[in-house]
Amino acid sequence: MFFKPFHVVALVAALSSAAAFAQAPIVIKFSHVTTNDTPKGKGADRFKELAEKATKGRVKVEVYPNSTLYKDKEELEALQLGAVQMLAPSLAKFGPLGVKEFEAFDIPYIFPSKDVLYRVTEGPVGKSLLKKLETKGITGLSYWDNGFKVMTSNKPLRHPADFKGQKMRIQSSKVLDAQFRALGANPQVMAFSEVYQAMQTGVVDGGENTPSNVYTQKMHEVQKHLTVSDHGYIGYAVIVNKKFWDGLPADIRGQLEGAMKEATRYANAIAQTENAQALDAIKKSGKTTVYVLNDKERAEWRKALLPVRKSVEARVGKEVLQAVDKESAALGFK
Ligand code: LMR
Repeated sequence: MFFKPFHVVALVAALSSAAAFAQAPIVIKFSHVTTNDTPKGKGADRFKELAEKATKGRVKVEVYPNSTLYKDKEELEALQLGAVQMLAPSLAKFGPLGVKEFEAFDIPYIFPSKDVLYRVTEGPVGKSLLKKLETKGITGLSYWDNGFKVMTSNKPLRHPADFKGQKMRIQSSKVLDAQFRALGANPQVMAFSEVYQAMQTGVVDGGENTPSNVYTQKMHEVQKHLTVSDHGYIGYAVIVNKKFWDGLPADIRGQLEGAMKEATRYANAIAQTENAQALDAIKKSGKTTVYVLNDKERAEWRKALLPVRKSVEARVGKEVLQAVDKESAALGFK
């Protein structure tokens, strides 16, 4: 039997297209708003490395940091539409999606320690919150830590009265809105990528963020004062487009879950050090005056911010608040 040349050509074409099909990697676009050099940025890069290794290259993770693809609100819309597959928005940003329970994490001074926070996110309530995202076409995979927030402005912020009339940038959370109103300030929702310029041009007077976010966005260069107040928390939920995730071959999904577990351990292990180093670097830059609240001032802030919890209880629900109280008591906090 003879092979005619066109048989050979057809056979080669069929084999090579089958091979190309078998080899085409599954692409995960992972978009986020901070730089590479932050707890979240480093976590995302580590996930890429681990995921590509675990799947032997069958999955390719493309990380787009620093709002290069989307700003805060748009990235959530893009995930729901399937234009990107993975994000790690701060918990403060889930309110506009209709999952307001996440805003409980924004309540000032709610966590007496990081351990209380971990017990909540790693416990049944943390899981139940991620589950609530499913009706929005989102699967929640993990919680990533950033840290406690500092306040920045062009004037010193030591006492609650110093906030009066200050225009303060906030993330899109009603709890953060209530927090600044309780201090007599004027909160303004703004995307993270726009904050530096807004501070530079005076569109806002100040804001709140973690030291690593302040430093990597260079906010300290356009803010004269920074107060270490640890009054609130920023952390993330790593999320994926549910349809995409459910459609993955089971073996690949399992490998990615393993990679996510390890990346989570890594991101959470470095968060505190990253923030301490950023605060040091801010001090060393000499561009902003860093002030640490003393106990008396901290007590004044707590007192001024205490009504916020009551005022948002109906919005955020009891689930998280009760879990925080229970875990606080379990760890010996009153
Ligand atoms: C912010 O918008 O200030 C933060 O949520 C940014 C981030 O993702 O850490």
